[in-house]
Amino acid sequence: MKKILVTGGCGFIGSNFIRYALKNSDYEIVNIDKLTYAGNLKNLIDVQSDKRYKFYKADICNYELVSYIIEKEKVDSIINFAAESHVDRSILSSQEFIRTNVTGTNVLLELTRLYSLERFLQISTDEVYGSLGPDGKFTETTPLSPNSPYSASKASADLLVRAYNHTYGLPALITRCSNNYGPFQFPEKLIPLMIINAINNKPLPVYGDGMNVRDWIYVEDHCDAILKVFEKGEIGEVYNIGAENEMPNIEIVKLILKELGKDESLITFVKDRPGHDRRYAIDATKIKTKLNWKPNHTFETAIKETISWYLQNKSWWEEIISGDYLNYYKKWYEER
Ligand code: NAD
Ligand code: DAU
Repeated sequence: MKKILVTGGCGFIGSNFIRYALKNSDYEIVNIDKLTYAGNLKNLIDVQSDKRYKFYKADICNYELVSYIIEKEKVDSIINFAAESHVDRSILSSQEFIRTNVTGTNVLLELTRLYSLERFLQISTDEVYGSLGPDGKFTETTPLSPNSPYSASKASADLLVRAYNHTYGLPALITRCSNNYGPFQFPEKLIPLMIINAINNKPLPVYGDGMNVRDWIYVEDHCDAILKVFEKGEIGEVYNIGAENEMPNIEIVKLILKELGKDESLITFVKDRPGHDRRYAIDATKIKTKLNWKPNHTFETAIKETISWYLQNKSWWEEIISGDYLNYYKKWYEER
């Protein structure tokens, strides 16, 4: 049985991936996570006693500790989800983004090399390509043109992965996915924030004119694509992941209000995000044709399931929004 070291497995996508992989493969999984504000052990409560799963609290920047875990657990491969992931927080302060997203990835690449691991999969993002005009889509050959400290740190990590593959022949691959939604997403991101504010009859803060476009994919479809790239992807390649579901933010917000039976008067247009990317859209032809992958969920159904998950799991997000998150929320939205 092969063993994968998953980093950042207590976050939104990492925790969904671990659950998906335990169910749909026979890998053993060692999860290391620093448990920042975004990491939550409760995201994996249902798998914590699974014999194929083990957790260590560890920072990916800690070379000695991660090295010890790789050796002790005899892991075969790494999938790197760990990151500071929120654009707005990177605008408030970027240091942690450079540390975790760039230095942390570098540590993992060095250790992959030292232990001659079989595979290193970097979970990247479509934001490394920058912003699109009204036409066209990002392909794997679109030049990198990141616009926020967050996306610049992710693009830097991608370049390191590329260089380690080119220079040392490291068995590395990269995925670049569009915006995810689904259960366990931290309530600072658009969809959970709007659902929770609507449930609580609080204003829904829409940046600028609300016409920025994101390309949405259900998190389980992203996890399925990651497993496919991990198993069948060609070393040294980049794979875009997306579900062809572009929507302006304002449409999503209105849909959430309608689904929850709330009034559109809750919508509040606020000052725009500095440097706000206008449009993202993924061309996923490569993963579809080369790896025979396709998304299994439609937005219409999966967004309803997501809204009901937040309705049914109030205690999960109530605990979060009463904690440290409150300070960030005040700081970011106070003057908008
Ligand atoms: P998240 O913020 O929900 O989770 C990040 C996790 O990483 C948390 O559990 C956190 O504790 C952990 N972490 C942070 N710094 C760490 C460190 N130094 N050492 C160990 N663990 C650390 O993020 P997410 O939305 O689940 O995103 C996961 C990955 O997917 C990121 O790399 C992100 O760039 C990428 N991605 C996200 C999206 C999206 O829509 N959310 C889309 C495409 C790609
Ligand atoms: O595209 C993939 C990326 O998607 C990931 O790499 C990032 O980790 C992830 O956070 C996400 O980045 P975005 O900036 O696109 O996601 P966010 O949920 O922060 O915002 C989505 C859109 O909604 C964006 O146009 C900004 C807008 N927005 C967001 C918030 C939090 C608002 O209008 N109001 C808000 O309060």
